[in-house]
Amino acid sequence: MKLNWAERWVVNNPSRIFQQQVEIRLMKRMMPLAHGATILEVGCGRGAGAKLIRKVFQPSQLMILDLDFQMIQKAKTYLHPAEMEHMSLYVGDAVCLPFKTNSLDALFGFGFLHHVPDWRRALSEVARVLKIGGHYYIEELYPALYQNFITKRLLLHPAHDRFKSHDLRYALSKMDLDLKDAFELKNLGILGVATKLDH
Ligand SMILES: C[S@@+](CC[C@H](N)C(=O)[O-])C[C@H]1O[C@@H](n2cnc3c(N)ncnc32)[C@H](O)[C@@H]1O
Repeated sequence: MKLNWAERWVVNNPSRIFQQQVEIRLMKRMMPLAHGATILEVGCGRGAGAKLIRKVFQPSQLMILDLDFQMIQKAKTYLHPAEMEHMSLYVGDAVCLPFKTNSLDALFGFGFLHHVPDWRRALSEVARVLKIGGHYYIEELYPALYQNFITKRLLLHPAHDRFKSHDLRYALSKMDLDLKDAFELKNLGILGVATKLDH
């Protein structure tokens, strides 16, 4: 589901970049990656996460994808041409990722999953495209944060079948994504990394 004007303002705000700078360093501490990895970011928005992934993890190939064509257009202007070398930009849906099975070393998702009505299907796509031993770096919000008295009036999210901590953890484990490390703020959200197991 695309963002409404209020959430566009939130995610395209300089304070969001500061938050992601902190988060990506925590992610690297949780699970470092060898340089030269093949990485996908789903729900990339205007490309601020991609800029950081490139700098901190130094992939050889970085694909970024968003449902919203306007976000991809923004990313094309936000990112410097030199930063877009070895980077491919896609308009696409998380529930049907245009990538081969077992093809990626890592997948980053900064706050996209809670925007997807069929979030379990999107999670199964995450698991499908990762190689065995590949990592899913997660930053997600729970309904207490985005569907409370105030935020449900301001923001636009799917209304039904929303995941909280135990739903997400259960779905990850069902999809052979082993949550290796995570930092959770009560029932507000999660920052963590899950690794795809060989089953
Ligand atoms: C909360 S924003 C986060 C944007 C950016 N990752 C950030 O952290 O600033 C969620 C992003 O996910 C995208 N999105 C929502 N549903 C999606 C889907 N089904 N497939 C791919 N992207 C999706 C939205 O267009 C939006 O850019």
